[in-house]
Amino acid sequence: MTMWIPQLAEDGVRYRAIAESIAVAIQAGELSAGQKLPPQRRLADRLGVTVGTVTRAYAEAERQGWVTARVGSGTFVRGNEAASGQDFLASRPIEKGIIDLSLSLPPPHPMRAASLGRVLHEIADDDLLLQRAVEYQPDRGVPEHRERLAAWMCELGMPVDDEALLVTQGGQHGISLALQALARPGERIAADVLTYPGLISAARQAHLKVAGVPMDDQGMDMDALARLCAQQQPPRLVYVTPDQNNPTGTPLSEVRRERLVTLARRHDFWIVEDGVQYLPESERGTPLYRLAPERTLFIFSTSKVLAGGLRIGTLVAPAMLRERLGATLRAQNWMVPPLMVEAVCRWVTSDDSRALLDWLVQELGERQQLARQRLAGYTTSGRLHGNNLWLPLPEGLRSAVLVEALAQRNVLVSSAEPFCVGSEPAPQALRLCLSAAASREALAQALDTLAELLAEPPAAPWQTL
Ligand SMILES: Cc1ncc(COP(=O)(O)O)c(C=O)c1O
Repeated sequence: MTMWIPQLAEDGVRYRAIAESIAVAIQAGELSAGQKLPPQRRLADRLGVTVGTVTRAYAEAERQGWVTARVGSGTFVRGNEAASGQDFLASRPIEKGIIDLSLSLPPPHPMRAASLGRVLHEIADDDLLLQRAVEYQPDRGVPEHRERLAAWMCELGMPVDDEALLVTQGGQHGISLALQALARPGERIAADVLTYPGLISAARQAHLKVAGVPMDDQGMDMDALARLCAQQQPPRLVYVTPDQNNPTGTPLSEVRRERLVTLARRHDFWIVEDGVQYLPESERGTPLYRLAPERTLFIFSTSKVLAGGLRIGTLVAPAMLRERLGATLRAQNWMVPPLMVEAVCRWVTSDDSRALLDWLVQELGERQQLARQRLAGYTTSGRLHGNNLWLPLPEGLRSAVLVEALAQRNVLVSSAEPFCVGSEPAPQALRLCLSAAASREALAQALDTLAELLAEPPAAPWQTL
């Protein structure tokens, strides 16, 4: 086997460049799980750097979770443990060879599991903390945890007051809590006509009706919402994902944010703002919870940034709702387990989490670019660093046929159907979760399969008279 040698740019810090090349090569499939990295001295000679530089690079790649060093044997590429964790989420088991772009998961990275392990070890050595973890705590969360989570959100460019923050078990829990606390069974809420399926199922569980508001390339149509408010009883609340609609990726324009707030004040409805799908600050608009703090509930979660399995999120609410939300949470499960919140608080303030976030943003940007290249010639929408890409199908193509044909070729994607509110018709389109592929190479393979099918569409398999 030929020795793997990274191609390094002329400038930049050498050890970091080598560590980064290792990460890129693993993502691209050039280095596979279990493969041994070149001996340090040989690589140093080939690259014209000192052995110390290579040692430092390997240590950095290990710190980031890409490789593991075995004393006396060398440094080896780690297995992709994170990817295997997706199995139970899918209705069918993930079989070898299947590329699943149907679920909005963060890109797998071995650093997630490695960092969690480090944090749990730290906690296991802290007697005071363990003592607190075995006791009941306040329903809205331990004050110190709320402070640390608020500080983290500020660091991410989402300044919130810790007094306004309630710890949840993730974004989905935040949605359910908001619906339960704000609306009574039988009442009506409103959302984009295509929206996050978790909102649709939470509304069904709470026996609420959802009105689908039409949308265009500026987001929710505010004239349509105004008509809805005027013609019938205004909705109790309007649910929005203003920075990127899930599935289409469309952001709500600044003008429409202002109009939404004006309508909410005029017709006295609540705004539930969901910011779970992470975007870097430069790509976000003005948060609604800042435009209308007195009537907006803001939902955030660690799921898309760190890991979905942690089940920790935040719900930021106006002062007059805090007691009610605390009581709702207490009625459900008393409190979110403080042990898990402590693990998250430690993780989010670690260098690991900052490195992971930097990597995530870079990786999502690369994946979006890759998808736009492979699907050049087709109309797509999605944020430059978002998880998803939305593909309205060319005239004459049916999404059900394409979803099926892709599945037969081991590629899983979603049609618009799960995102449709009520009995609204589904547009012929696909949502591709670029982030969910195990690697960029797998993503490219799936996109090529899709491009082939778009170029030569399969015949509809239906036989009917
Ligand atoms: C818009 C939106 N909100 C909420 C959630 C749920 O987040 P969590 O996994 O933290 O429950 C998701 C998950 O995909 C989402 O896309």
